[in-house]
Amino acid sequence: MVGQLVEYLRTRRTIPAAQMGEPGPDAETLREMLAIAARVPDHGKLAPWRFIVFEGERRQQAVDGLIRIAETVPDEKERRFRAEKARFFADGAVIVGVISAPIADHPKIPLWEQQLSAGAVCLNLLHAAQAHGFAAQWLTGWFAYDEEAQRWLGLKEGERVAGFIHIGTPKMPPSERDRPDIDTITTSWRPGAEG
Ligand SMILES: Cc1cc2nc3c(=O)[nH]c(=O)nc-3n(C[C@H](O)[C@H](O)[C@H](O)COP(=O)(O)O)c2cc1C
Repeated sequence: MVGQLVEYLRTRRTIPAAQMGEPGPDAETLREMLAIAARVPDHGKLAPWRFIVFEGERRQQAVDGLIRIAETVPDEKERRFRAEKARFFADGAVIVGVISAPIADHPKIPLWEQQLSAGAVCLNLLHAAQAHGFAAQWLTGWFAYDEEAQRWLGLKEGERVAGFIHIGTPKMPPSERDRPDIDTITTSWRPGAEG
């Protein structure tokens, strides 16, 4: 078990959403995956995040709305780019929006720490999906940052998209990609050694 877990973590690789298909997890499996995703370090036990699930016909409705918003952009090149990216929102089988929903001006827990916890939820959801035999990719896109798109996708005031986690069945095995050299990014602290 320990060996398997280490091997999984050592070789974990994203399969892009474009290379995923149906089926996605059923409702019970997805719920279990979300419970795993929510089991993250969370300073102050604030649970400063929540999930929005895009599935079935309503996912296509979400895409259609994003395309409509994209089409209001005056610059033609940008308009086409945004519409194309919006279509990718349909990739995979189920999409889970991990929404950072921090408590602003919390007296003890800085906003940054609440946002980091939302990032941890995203990574945990990738792990949970893969542990259940699914492929998963963490994506954002212009609609994660555009206010009108945020409202359309269901975000409330003060919330941000930590990630859209596309989940589906892998159509092909993952290929390797370069990883950072650990010795280059790791130093042993000594006094006076500034960055
Ligand atoms: C916050 C965040 C947002 C991302 N958004 C995108 C994106 O919009 N498009 C994209 O191709 N990859 C995006 N990525 C990168 C992919 O999730 C992933 O890292 C990439 O496919 C390589 O996968 P791997 O390193 O997990 O194997 C994002 C990653 C993070 C952490």
